[in-house]
Amino acid sequence: MSVILPGSTIGVLGGGQLGRMFAMAARRLGYRVHTLAPEHDTPTGQIADVEVVAPYDDVEAVRAFAKGVDVVTFEFENVSAAAAAAAEEHAIVRPNGRALAIAQHRIREKTFLAGLGVPVTPFAPVRTEADLVSALQTVGTPAVLKTAAFGYDGKGQVPIARPGEAAAAWEALGRREAILEAFLDLDQEISVIGARGVGGEWSHFGAIENAHRRHILDVSVSPAGVAPATATLAIEITRRVMEALEFVGLLCVEFFVTRDGRVMVNELAPRPHNSGHLTFDACRTSQFEQQLRAICGLPLGSTEQLQPAAMANILGDLWEAGEPEWAAALRFPTVKLHLYGKLNPRPGRKMGHITALSATREEAKSLVIGAREALTKRT
Ligand SMILES: Nc1ncnc2c1ncn2[C@@H]1O[C@H](COP(=O)(O)OP(=O)(O)O)[C@@H](O)[C@H]1O
Ligand SMILES: [Mg+2]
Repeated sequence: MSVILPGSTIGVLGGGQLGRMFAMAARRLGYRVHTLAPEHDTPTGQIADVEVVAPYDDVEAVRAFAKGVDVVTFEFENVSAAAAAAAEEHAIVRPNGRALAIAQHRIREKTFLAGLGVPVTPFAPVRTEADLVSALQTVGTPAVLKTAAFGYDGKGQVPIARPGEAAAAWEALGRREAILEAFLDLDQEISVIGARGVGGEWSHFGAIENAHRRHILDVSVSPAGVAPATATLAIEITRRVMEALEFVGLLCVEFFVTRDGRVMVNELAPRPHNSGHLTFDACRTSQFEQQLRAICGLPLGSTEQLQPAAMANILGDLWEAGEPEWAAALRFPTVKLHLYGKLNPRPGRKMGHITALSATREEAKSLVIGAREALTKRT
């Protein structure tokens, strides 16, 4: 299997912060980066050598893009099967189209996982209002109705407290193909980011603990504060899923840990993940460099973590009273501020993040939260 060496060109489909940090890692190793996304001056485009502006479903544009690169990878998984297939005609595409198709569609995803014998949230597919009524009988309430495709950061989700809310929920979701899930009483959420190379070699970053606010990731801490057996099980599930998908690249598996101690897969992300941003500062090899190594057929790097670490997201909400006080966060000499170069700070939009390493998980967490609070403390 030939290795894609430094000096080669990587094509990134997607233009967000995941591609931006990937491009930084790739450029550090001497690769060239092209990116394709529907907008100009994207976070990835600002770092890439070449920014192509085209919709993801523009098959001709994707074809031309693939011709100009040595390997295509993703920072955004909602690329159509036709576009992924067009890319595969002209370049190596990693991860493969099947992994992408499964990870981008919640029904396919949960059906695939259940077929592997991996525990998932109780669910039922919903294609009509009548499906929803019967799904509510099997799954029960409280439940959450999620669009089968294109959901992120809690978008495309409607909570259902009682069976009588079926019609309203179906309407609220836009009468689209969906999945009904039991709404679980969660103790914790964790994620495992795995990397799998061309020859099947595998590595992971351990279990990372994730706290959400308004369904958006708020703070991640690594290592996760879970029982060792819970972390081991989550890591083992991640490995099995990647094997079954013949996955090459980086996959994040999000898990729910329920109050009665059960571990279930919530969803798969076939790319770097927000919970892994702390690896940029905390690990010998970041998730982004590991993605690069995996898709290029290079040896995987050490994922050793230097110290306990935490990450706090910076959302557009922080701009409510004007530009955040960046210097105030930087007054914490050990925290690292990452900003994505986005111009419009809309509420809920991920604009950047803060990471910190410390002797303990708790200290790292209070450092990032303190530094984030300092951003909006007016003096
Ligand atoms: N079935 C559920 N039970 C409990 N909480 C849930 C459930 N589904 C989603 N959530 C909460 O909403 C968050 C976002 O949902 P998720 O399915 O991961 O969608 P997204 O694609 O937006 O990340 C989860 O991380 C969790 O906090
Ligand atoms: Mg999620």
